[in-house]
Amino acid sequence: MNRFFITTPIYYVNAKPHLGHAYTTIVADALARFHALCGEDVFFLTGTDEHGDKIAEAAAKAGQTPKEYADGISSLFSELWPALGLAPTRFIRTTDADHIAAVKRALQLVYDKGDIYFGEYGGHYCKGCERFLTEKELVDGLCPDHKVKPDYIAEKNYFFRMSKYQGQLLEHIKANPGFIRPRQYRSEVVSLLESGALDDLCISRPKSRLTWGVELPFDPNFVTYVWFDALINYLTAVGWPDAPDFPAWWDAAEHLVAKDILKPHAVFWPTMLLALGLPLYRRLNVHGYWLVRDTKMSKSLGNVVEPKELAARAGLSGLRYFFLREMVFGADANFTDEAFVGRFNADLANDLGNLANRTLAMAAKYFGSVVPADVAEDCADEELKQLAEAAVANFMTLFAAAQFSRALDALWELVRGLNKYVDAMAPWTLYKEGRTDRLATVMAGALGGLRKVAACLLPVMPEAAATLLVQLGQDAAGINLVDEAKGFAALPAGTALAATSNLFPRLDVPARDEVAPAPKTKAPKDSAKAKDKAPAVKPGPALEVDYEDFAKLDLRLGTVVSVAPVAGADRLYTVAVDIGEDAPRQVVAGLAEHFTPEELTGRQVTLVANLKPRKLRGVLSHGMILAVRHASGMALVTASASVAPGDRIS
Ligand code: ME8
Ligand code: MG
Repeated sequence: MNRFFITTPIYYVNAKPHLGHAYTTIVADALARFHALCGEDVFFLTGTDEHGDKIAEAAAKAGQTPKEYADGISSLFSELWPALGLAPTRFIRTTDADHIAAVKRALQLVYDKGDIYFGEYGGHYCKGCERFLTEKELVDGLCPDHKVKPDYIAEKNYFFRMSKYQGQLLEHIKANPGFIRPRQYRSEVVSLLESGALDDLCISRPKSRLTWGVELPFDPNFVTYVWFDALINYLTAVGWPDAPDFPAWWDAAEHLVAKDILKPHAVFWPTMLLALGLPLYRRLNVHGYWLVRDTKMSKSLGNVVEPKELAARAGLSGLRYFFLREMVFGADANFTDEAFVGRFNADLANDLGNLANRTLAMAAKYFGSVVPADVAEDCADEELKQLAEAAVANFMTLFAAAQFSRALDALWELVRGLNKYVDAMAPWTLYKEGRTDRLATVMAGALGGLRKVAACLLPVMPEAAATLLVQLGQDAAGINLVDEAKGFAALPAGTALAATSNLFPRLDVPARDEVAPAPKTKAPKDSAKAKDKAPAVKPGPALEVDYEDFAKLDLRLGTVVSVAPVAGADRLYTVAVDIGEDAPRQVVAGLAEHFTPEELTGRQVTLVANLKPRKLRGVLSHGMILAVRHASGMALVTASASVAPGDRIS
């Protein structure tokens, strides 16, 4: 059986967990579930990193011994994961006895090999990073991540001959393009390795300065440098060196980290493995930062968001969906309440939730919640079948490649496609006209599509997806994603369905004053934009008008026939709308940030047809397209059924 071994960083116990830690751990869990659902044997590892300067310092500040302090914070992590529905195979602590033994063993091996020597070094040490920063890494003399001036430390210590393995590591990275992903981080490491000789790595601290660590097996006057200790956890957990299945697990090892610890994972760790004579891990997956107002969310900067609070609002499934969909894996993402609520309402409450609700409600009304018996064996319409098969295949490929955001977008092609399918097939009309066979085909096809969506969502939203599968009369336990990707089928006749589904009740958009004000330093251009994008807040009552005034408006439905960008205006399109006149109306509309030309073309829109013509950016605009600004973007105002171009609203 194929194996999959996924690790998160082991988190420092100098402060309680926040959204950033929850993100990494949830992504690891989603990958673990994905591989398990593909029939693989999975090991999911997380834990806490408890030795070193910064823990000793935090403990001293709290008036506790380092171990007491570490116990307290470590339990905040180990208790948070089950509360977030996560069940790691092992929660490791660097104070665990088997880990300490493994660290000593590794040190002795490397020492005996002659790759550890005693020497002296001076450098800029950042306690936040727990490592020496090179001159090049400093920004205005400060650590770019922690915004503090590193301490200059010079002392006698033990060093690991990291430089010896530089060439071998570079070769390995070049020969294995998937070793570090996404690509930008691989390039970063390659250029680091190509830019000059690596320093050797200082791997000890004199006990005269720090006692909180693993004692060196070959010199009792020193403790182990925290990174040399911490990285070994990945070996300890799968039983290095003696466990019989250690080699099989190690062969399947994938690490997941944020870019803050790229260098320790992409340079320190593989060179340590080379020195230990072990194969390198299979892959390093690197993600970006969650930012708050463009600054990294971090305990040292004090701008953290509580993961439990978000889960309480949107459910565990909502939180997981947001994490995976909103952050482009590898890039930074800004956390805002608007984005959180907007994403939930648009994708889950609207697209998926409505689809499930209305499909099940129709099946209840038309067929008493049992897929009818007269459905042909392979009844789904060809177009729907192709859409579903492509969406599932794309989802699988992209998810396996850690491109979660694109994977979900691919799956939402199917969600949106199913909504369109239902709209276009209009089961309510088929029902009214008594076309029962066709109605059964349409419903069983739509339900089969929903089943595919729910199956793919199991790793992303385990709770909600399982609930949806139950509502669809499906057995979640029997699902294998590899099989799922092999073809599309309508739900079989006789399947018993739930009568309703209310998986994702809409979230309230936070009131304006609950949202902290934007920093004053923002450039005026930005704040204008920010205001522009503000979520819809229930407006106060508008000025009353007489019916005669209202009747002056000529509101018509029309069909978009073409869309072109307006030169020099990012937000504007020139839109041609057919309202049944000799030639289409030309309108300049601020829709470019929300829709692609393809998305607009062919859509029905509402036009204020008798607005006086005027020029915008030198382009004649005759009329106005009506749209609603909501939390996650813009929605077009349109009719609930397809009407003829030029039909008037009254
Ligand atoms: O570095 N955005 O521990 P650490 C995204 N003990 N992810 C974030 C984040 C943010 N704003 N903030 C934290 C250490 N993370 C070492 C690791 S491994 C052998 C030793 C996540 O507590 C992300 O995974 O500083 C990041 O890499 C990790 O927390 C750093 O955790
Ligand atoms: Mg950190």
